[in-house]
Amino acid sequence: MTNTSNPVNKTSSHLCHLYNPYIPIMAEIQAIERLTARESLFKIILPEPLNHRPGQFVMAGLPGIGECAISISSGPQSGTLLEMVIRKAGNVTGVLHQLKESDYISIRGPFGSGFYLDDFRRKDIVIIAGGLGLVPLRSLITPIMEHKSDYGMVHLIIGSRTPREALFRQQIQQWKNQADVHIIELVDDTDFQHWDGDIGLVTEPVRQLSIDEKNTLLVLCGPPVMYKFVLLEFKLYFNIPDEQIFIDLERRMRCGLGKCGHCQINHVYCCKEGPVFRYSQLKDLPEALS
Ligand SMILES: Cc1cc2nc3c(=O)[nH]c(=O)nc-3n(C[C@H](O)[C@H](O)[C@H](O)COP(=O)(O)OP(=O)(O)OC[C@H]3O[C@@H](n4cnc5c(N)ncnc54)[C@H](O)[C@@H]3O)c2cc1C
Ligand code: FES
Repeated sequence: MTNTSNPVNKTSSHLCHLYNPYIPIMAEIQAIERLTARESLFKIILPEPLNHRPGQFVMAGLPGIGECAISISSGPQSGTLLEMVIRKAGNVTGVLHQLKESDYISIRGPFGSGFYLDDFRRKDIVIIAGGLGLVPLRSLITPIMEHKSDYGMVHLIIGSRTPREALFRQQIQQWKNQADVHIIELVDDTDFQHWDGDIGLVTEPVRQLSIDEKNTLLVLCGPPVMYKFVLLEFKLYFNIPDEQIFIDLERRMRCGLGKCGHCQINHVYCCKEGPVFRYSQLKDLPEALS
């Protein structure tokens, strides 16, 4: 698809307003980098900065095709550059994967609660990312790495199914060069590919961590099954208060605005009150973590 075939052209995108959450803007794709067989990094140039918080998401799509929730992967200081990793999963994401540089994509947002960086300053931080969970957490890790002296010790445990599915490995190498950063990369299985990290599940290194529980924040994002086992492991070895544990949840979303009910977990609208929750908000909420 080219610029001219796009139903909304550049001129009309400038007439739209980023801050009307119902009206998508059309933004130009600057570059698309293939990361894995199913995931590509989309670099989008917005007409004005999103001013997002880490952990927020946008509704991305195409007129006449549809929209889907996609996490913002770039840090909050990225200006008019919006980075998203899109996995080819179905109808909308399949069409987005056919786009090329200079094509246009529709964007609404940013939506959701996200992380407040002020909560993290001067704290030690343990971040556990499983699979595509690294994508939204990258928007949190990036500003922490950019101003590392404002934060305490950072432990990152990053798990992928196989080496081929491991994301952002070059950037992870750069993060390793920072002071007081401890990174463990794991795969479930090497699948006969070269791998210089560890082998195992993200739960396995937890017991070896040396942390000051009172001053540590724990952040989790990954497949739903990961939460249960990581939390069990932490509860077994450490006593981090539930208010200091952040969980980035994923639910099906349509409006992103708390109107359609698609994302509801009982009385909670995941799109508005989440996708980032404190464990204290979720632990008594039926079906939130199952
Ligand atoms: C807050 C949030 C952030 C997200 N961030 C990203 C991201 O950064 N990158 C990314 O690639 N995807 C992300 N997703 C998931 C993405 O929204 C879905 O993959 C997308 O909606 C699929 O749309 P589709 O039309 O391509 O697929 P469909 O044709 O609608 O469905 C294809 C398959 O995916 C399943 N599916 C659809 N939506 C979801 C969902 N939300 N959870 C689980 N299964 C689903 C369907 O049941 C079906 O099996 C996020 C979702 C949420 C709620
Ligand atoms: S996506 Fe519509 S209410 Fe949350």
